[in-house]
Amino acid sequence: MTDKGVTFLDVGEAGLIARSKASWPEWYGSDANRPQLRFSPFKGWMNDPNGLCFIDGRYHLFYQFHPVESEWGPMHWGHAVSDDLYRWSHLPVFLHSEQNLWSLGATGGAFSGSAFVGPDGKLSFYYTERLPAYDLFKDYKEVQKRVVPSNDLLRPEANRLVLVDGPPGSSHDFRDPKVWYDEERQAYRMVLGAAIDGDPAVLLYGSVDGNDWKFLSVLYRAPEHFRQHGARCVECPDFFELDGRFVIVMGFVGYTEPATGRHNLLYAQVGNFENDRFALLSDELQELDFGTDFYAMQSFRAGERRIAFAWLFNWEFRKPAGSPYSGELSLPRVLGLDVQSRLTMVPEEGYQRLRAAALPQTSPFGFDCEPGRPIELSMAGDLDGIRIVGRGAEGESFSLVHTDGRLELAVAEDTGEIKYCSAPLRLERLTLFFDRGVVEVFANRGTICGTRRTYKITELTSLEFMPADDAHVKACEAWSYNSAWT
Ligand code: FRU
Repeated sequence: MTDKGVTFLDVGEAGLIARSKASWPEWYGSDANRPQLRFSPFKGWMNDPNGLCFIDGRYHLFYQFHPVESEWGPMHWGHAVSDDLYRWSHLPVFLHSEQNLWSLGATGGAFSGSAFVGPDGKLSFYYTERLPAYDLFKDYKEVQKRVVPSNDLLRPEANRLVLVDGPPGSSHDFRDPKVWYDEERQAYRMVLGAAIDGDPAVLLYGSVDGNDWKFLSVLYRAPEHFRQHGARCVECPDFFELDGRFVIVMGFVGYTEPATGRHNLLYAQVGNFENDRFALLSDELQELDFGTDFYAMQSFRAGERRIAFAWLFNWEFRKPAGSPYSGELSLPRVLGLDVQSRLTMVPEEGYQRLRAAALPQTSPFGFDCEPGRPIELSMAGDLDGIRIVGRGAEGESFSLVHTDGRLELAVAEDTGEIKYCSAPLRLERLTLFFDRGVVEVFANRGTICGTRRTYKITELTSLEFMPADDAHVKACEAWSYNSAWT
């Protein structure tokens, strides 16, 4: 199963169609809106990456999945496996919701969670089950569960409830556990996303056996600015050690940034974690992706590296009606810290093996693109003031401009109400990928990243860049790509 993947049975007009792995390249390639370098579900709705882990030399991806339609609904965990983080095989659904929510007309189910390898080397998963509100006057309830998988990782072998109630001041938003083992204390630790008295917060829990959990403290509480601008709770907190520091990553659901109108922002803060206390290096929140189509990031360790994926979506635009699926993952990103202890993210280098050819240069500042093929543009030099435009047959698909000292990323759908711009930077290095509507930008070795998803013009015919008069482009290369699905 883990080599061959599942065969999907599709009920079409012509009857039952079996779609085995051999048919996936055609299925993925023929959808003009379907990214080719990134994971997306075969059918149905996908959101957050879950349970990411590297086991016996293979990468396992689980993800928030609604198999019935390409809209969010009762949650399951989809499952896929890869040898290289780019080429995936679909595996059977791993987790189902506790109750048959679809038939009840309810939502909830197997919400987000993460993988955990214990001190004994054994793998388990922690996740949230959202129990629906049957009574309209009550809220839903979120409880935490622990799953031990079968040896082949294809199904849960044991599933138990490990944490039911949040601490005083918390609300019904109480979810998305991330667990690790604290060697010094010889104890388990868990962070959960929640709100405390209305402020988005990350809660710290402790356990001696991984099953019986006690509330320890509020590890992080967002400044009141976030509550005042709509933030309801923290979602998908990630907390991990990196180069001798600890990093917290979180999304504040509901928040809209007053200055730009952006929402769905993801933030990081770096600090030291000692005696169950998280001491921040600075009060300033680092914005992780100025494009905001990068949410619910989850990281995991693979050997010496910390790798992360996120969900490419921000609820602003939707897939065109009739699409067999919705939801994609970012490129795998390798995490690091820069000299100022800011979190950096660069694409995992395996993408280079998927390069097809150098893009033909049609002018000093222009390249021809083969519609449908992913492309990469990489540059170095004094790039301040540069303007990059990707065009399709129907007009401008996206533009990336360095203006007023910031990067600004616009797509065909934009009306100008929301401004997708970065923190100020002197632009010295830039790598940009375009993949059937996904634009993923990495600047200055990953200190600034920006991701946007456009559904309007997804096939590029040309790519142009216009340096400012005083710019100095020292290096520039552009590539077309093969699909990771072929
Ligand atoms: C984030 C999120 C999580 C939750 C899951 C439900 O996108 O809302 O907080 O567990 O999605 O699908």
